[in-house]
Amino acid sequence: MCSIIGILSKDIVAPALVDSLKRMEYRGYDSVGIATLSTDNRISVRKGVGKVGQVNSLLNLAGMEGFVGIGHTRWATHGGVTEYNAHPHPCCNNNIAVVHNGIIENYLPLKEELVKKGHIFRSETDTEVIAHLLEEYYNIGRDIKHAMMETVNHLEGSYAFVAMFANGTLSCARLDEPLIIGISDNTYYASSDVLGFLQYTDQAIFLDNRDMAIIDRAGGVSIVNFSGEPVTRSITKVAWELADANKGEFAHYTIKEIFEQRTSVKAATYQDEHKIRAFCDSIVSASNILVTGSGSSYHTSLIVSMMGSRLLKKRFEPVMASEFQYNMDSIEKNTVILAISQSGETADVLSATKLAREAGAKILSIVNVQTSSLARTADVSLSIKSGPEIGVAATKSFTGQMSLAYAILDRISGGKIGFDREVISDKISKMLAQQESIERLVNITMPKVNDIYLLGRSIHFPIALEGALKMKELAYVHAEGIAAGELKHGPLALMDKNAVVFVLNPDDRTYSDMLSSAHQVKARGAKIIGISNVPNDIYDAMIEIPKIDNDLLYPLVEIIPLQLFSYYLALQNNANPDFPRNLAKSVTVR
Ligand code: G6P
Repeated sequence: MCSIIGILSKDIVAPALVDSLKRMEYRGYDSVGIATLSTDNRISVRKGVGKVGQVNSLLNLAGMEGFVGIGHTRWATHGGVTEYNAHPHPCCNNNIAVVHNGIIENYLPLKEELVKKGHIFRSETDTEVIAHLLEEYYNIGRDIKHAMMETVNHLEGSYAFVAMFANGTLSCARLDEPLIIGISDNTYYASSDVLGFLQYTDQAIFLDNRDMAIIDRAGGVSIVNFSGEPVTRSITKVAWELADANKGEFAHYTIKEIFEQRTSVKAATYQDEHKIRAFCDSIVSASNILVTGSGSSYHTSLIVSMMGSRLLKKRFEPVMASEFQYNMDSIEKNTVILAISQSGETADVLSATKLAREAGAKILSIVNVQTSSLARTADVSLSIKSGPEIGVAATKSFTGQMSLAYAILDRISGGKIGFDREVISDKISKMLAQQESIERLVNITMPKVNDIYLLGRSIHFPIALEGALKMKELAYVHAEGIAAGELKHGPLALMDKNAVVFVLNPDDRTYSDMLSSAHQVKARGAKIIGISNVPNDIYDAMIEIPKIDNDLLYPLVEIIPLQLFSYYLALQNNANPDFPRNLAKSVTVR
């Protein structure tokens, strides 16, 4: 979603604001803005539509003066993509400006009331009410803490916001959206992501829900709850190497992250013994397990559920996080929720775990970001340790999640999977070595194709869904993952010579049924790309996957060619694979 950053420093802040926004641009990027406070205590705002680099070249954001400032990249929710709707939003007298991530659900009645009181609104956003509310209450007593308390007590929804006051103070508050304070020798940061300040400091305070912080030169950072009572939050050292957040020799983050899977599948399985034991014990003692996630993480949930039920003879039920609230009837005291999320900030996932906890369930989580809200609120949380994933489409986090899940299920089932991280890493390297042939395949097969179908059965079906998701989000091509047995119940009607069909067909127990599905689509003229370790004349093209001793492990390697294919298809379609249109990496609104 949107990114917010506030900086108070002894140095000019605009260059650092721009730099931070660039690093967080993966969260949302339709418009950008910065406000700084000049030495004569005037707030100046520059904002525009486009990516950070474009708006900066046009408006010289980095050239703004001032030692205090706030910045924002927007991913529109309320109001179109326009300069007026871009943040920061000033109040009427320009003494306060605000940047916000989240949604203010009751903004319309608040706006009506404020308009009646004479406030003039300049945007269609929900955010602007925060600036005017702060102004309203600040005008009463000139007390920032009380203005903040009054404001947050009027807001409904989920939010993290940073406000800059013309006296040089920054204030911020969070409710169900992340907000982190970074501290270095002479500078304070308030940001929606550690990437907003990690290049400057690794010392961070993770604000809790219903925390507010006031940052000024005299007092540094003081943190209070929404009732104004002081609270103590410890300083955490953030561990990630910033180098990981660069593209290195690769053209895009996405291809870099695809290649990082050689090591990230291994990294995911190195876990603290005490924590992984607690995690496994909770699964073993649960009577039923609901596995939830969104997007690619939901596809991991499908695989985990299939494997868990099969190996542990226990009920594992996959539930899309966005559907969770409607599917809670089976939750009882001995239910465990396994929530899977790269960011650990996806609003649907956080809301699902909150509801489940209220219904008495225990929460386990698998995340990438160990400092995320999901990790910090779960009873036991394990990190896949993939390092920052900047490309909006999940790649290494997807295989990292699967790898860790395999390691867990292998451990609980007494080695029934025979999971060996070195072997898997080696097989993934073999798939990556086919990079050039997959690029050629894209160039040969795809110029005129509008529809791609991916067929899978059993544990290959979630990979068909994930492959289709990559093609849609990276390359903007219509793609559908289909459980092959369902072809005859509808999708067969769509098959003709214009369709390209991937069949996920390793020589496991799905092999012969899948081959007959391939014949059904071939008979209607579709082009078939086989992903298999057994050559067959039916394939117009074949991507060879290595033989794997345990069939259950095929998903980890068969997704690799689909990621590569989607990446090259995106390049062919002139789409930026790192930042797909209309999508954001971390969806923190419901
Ligand atoms: C967004 C991203 C997807 C991701 C999904 C879930 O939609 O674009 O790539 O799979 O969120 O994110 P999470 O961080 O919860 O895994």
